Amino acid sequence: MNVLEFIKRKQSAKPITMVTAYDYFSARTVQSAGVDCILVGDSAGMVIHGDKDTLQMDPEIMTLHTRAVRKGAPDTFIVSDMPFLSHRKGLDFAVETAGELIRAGANAVKLEGARGVLDLVKHLVESGIPVMGHLGLTPQSIHQLGGYKVQGRSNSQQQALRTQALELQSQGCFSLVLECVPAELALEVSAELTIPVIGIGCGNGTDGQVLVWHDLLGCFSDFKPKFVRRFANLSDVAVEGLRLFVSEVKEGTFPSQEESYK
Ligand code: KIV
Repeated sequence: MNVLEFIKRKQSAKPITMVTAYDYFSARTVQSAGVDCILVGDSAGMVIHGDKDTLQMDPEIMTLHTRAVRKGAPDTFIVSDMPFLSHRKGLDFAVETAGELIRAGANAVKLEGARGVLDLVKHLVESGIPVMGHLGLTPQSIHQLGGYKVQGRSNSQQQALRTQALELQSQGCFSLVLECVPAELALEVSAELTIPVIGIGCGNGTDGQVLVWHDLLGCFSDFKPKFVRRFANLSDVAVEGLRLFVSEVKEGTFPSQEESYK
């Protein structure tokens, strides 16, 4: 994938798949499965670091995750999240952060929101850094939003979302993540934009779907949003394997002669 193919995929109505990855192993699995695009999401804060939100992530941690993901997925298009406030501290800090993520292996950066960042989006794009937008439920604004709630239910919210989506597109975003908005609104926004809309919790009318690796593989049980489908149950498989290890060590059947050096 590259930024031009994102647009082509929308034009040819072939859905784009995106899955998060945070380390070498998860990146390898995503690339092996043929997923179009990896998101090094700041959801790492929750599913990797055990935080209750994404606000603890900073440029240094995101850069570390991005570097590991690039090693595990050398041939996959990678988007890395600009972490909390990193695109709100002024142009220099934002450009520095985006540059670090790109140097670590990302092909593009994603940033949440539109108000106050439109000039930055344009500047990054003109500097050669592709930008993916993110509207709807923007987890970095969780305190302002009053919780993880569906967005775009009122007329004014819907209008604001439409306007912001068009603004991000005209500033040069090559695609847009839309999170947790009613399916009908997501469908309308997707139809209004020429860039692809990748949805999460937005129904099936968008140009692609993104899920968090741990959610779709059944590794994160703190809570399960309505929109998550578990396509596997890795957590159970892991616990089962670990139990076997414990019992075989206790029984003395591990390691065997074959697993020992003479
Ligand atoms: O950080 C993340 O995983 C995300 C997705 C939920 C889109 O931004």
